[in-house]
Amino acid sequence: MEFSIKSGHPEKQRTACVVVGIFEPRRMCASAEQIDKVSGGFLSSIIRRGDLEGKFGHTLLLHSVPNTLCERVLLVGCGRERDFNDAVYRKLIAKTTVVLNEIGAMEVTNYLTELSVKGRNTHWKIRQAVEAAWGALYHFDYLKSEKKTDRRPLRKLILSVPSRRDLAHSEQAVKEGLAIAQGVDLAKDLGNFPGNICTPEYLAKQAVTLAETDESIHTEILEQEQMETLKMGSLLSVSKGSALPPKLIVMNYSGGKESDAPVVLVGKGVTFDSGGISIKPSAAMDEMKYDMCGAASVLGVLSAVAKVGLPLNVIGVVPAVENMPGGYATRPGDIVTSMSGTTIEVLNTDAEGRLILCDALTYCERFNPSVVIDIATLTGACVVSLGHHTSGLLGNHNPLINDLLNAGRTSGDRAWELPMGEEYQEQLKSPFADIANIGGRYAGTITAACFLSRFTKKYHWAHLDIAGTAWKNGDKKGATGRPVPLLMQYLIDLCAEK
Ligand code: BES
Ligand code: MN
Ligand code: ZN
Repeated sequence: MEFSIKSGHPEKQRTACVVVGIFEPRRMCASAEQIDKVSGGFLSSIIRRGDLEGKFGHTLLLHSVPNTLCERVLLVGCGRERDFNDAVYRKLIAKTTVVLNEIGAMEVTNYLTELSVKGRNTHWKIRQAVEAAWGALYHFDYLKSEKKTDRRPLRKLILSVPSRRDLAHSEQAVKEGLAIAQGVDLAKDLGNFPGNICTPEYLAKQAVTLAETDESIHTEILEQEQMETLKMGSLLSVSKGSALPPKLIVMNYSGGKESDAPVVLVGKGVTFDSGGISIKPSAAMDEMKYDMCGAASVLGVLSAVAKVGLPLNVIGVVPAVENMPGGYATRPGDIVTSMSGTTIEVLNTDAEGRLILCDALTYCERFNPSVVIDIATLTGACVVSLGHHTSGLLGNHNPLINDLLNAGRTSGDRAWELPMGEEYQEQLKSPFADIANIGGRYAGTITAACFLSRFTKKYHWAHLDIAGTAWKNGDKKGATGRPVPLLMQYLIDLCAEK
């Protein structure tokens, strides 16, 4: 689908369909009123008959509205005006896009982008509209014999802005929105591919492909021998039970000055988490193909950053492994030595994410990063505490945490901070090694972050636990592409600050 920006009267659009909003109860928005006026009260007479109350998501398709140049007018119920907020706006755009894709109007001019959303400007509305519209039409059918085909799919979505002065910055908003939407797509695709296809090697190949398609990205893959030389004993202890070799993926985007300290993103890339010898119960174990969604989001962000051409340096680091039981697998009770020298008693081989992340985080020291953010489907406990709507956020630097919380609010890809502290650190005590890899029954998300914090003392660091937000269950089962929007917003805000 293609996007463009236009400013002008709705009745003068020579297009297959014009979209305007109706608030509940039966209240026309400005562009609907304009069409109503030129058409001699055509809309108001229909609304008066009771065909559209304005309830959220209800639609009414009108043909040949008098004195307009468009073939159709789609009236869209927007709900009550006082309830109209960020989330409702995004949902409205998404729902409308699905309808438009089905009615056969291939080129559409959408005036919903002119509705006022409290505290949000035109740039925000345009970018969010692009992301929401694109995301609404996502489907994953690479592995189906019969592909989904729409008879007359939506090809071009023209987004309306109030004035000509908005055109330039709205074009930029489209560019950003499209880059983010496609980054989200990449993250969704990688997440949805099963463990027999999306292996550590597959992730590495995708990272190499990114570098081939984009000049500003360079990818390096570290093999098992190199990780042995680096003494990444903790990372390597996780892949030992698997027939598949581990990969350490390092992607380098240089859009800033050479002297600019990079933002480093580290993504957990467990391409399948069986639990290892501490094997998981079989119910819903298939979902552990999503245990590389942190890694997928890092690839998604790097591709998006390069598409926008953001003026900063970003490095993506992905430890990619498979966690399996087997004759060579790490046993509960084994003690391993991490790259940092810290010894770890592996009391539970299912707490493997932190074991690969700690060595990746130590590796990051060499980049002299401005900040390091790791992204991981790390703990089931995070799903218990925050559910599927909000990612867990912890770290060692308040300004960074605040920037990420704000980026979450702006992008609608929300995070919530959890506390850390000495009391929790004590739960990681081990009688035999420097630390244990689990912290007991309570506060599992926090003790997992405490474990990581032992390896991030040399830089500003934040950790996003996306166990609850990286994929959806039920009839809409699939990866969400989160937290690509949050991270992109954070990076865009960083550039604006400079
Ligand atoms: N990948 C899982 C976390 C997870 C579980 C994410 C369910 C989403 C849904 C992680 O590797 C894991 O198994 N964590 C354990 C840690 C425990 C053994 C301390 C968990 O959360 O149960
Ligand atoms: Mn696990
Ligand atoms: Zn895991």
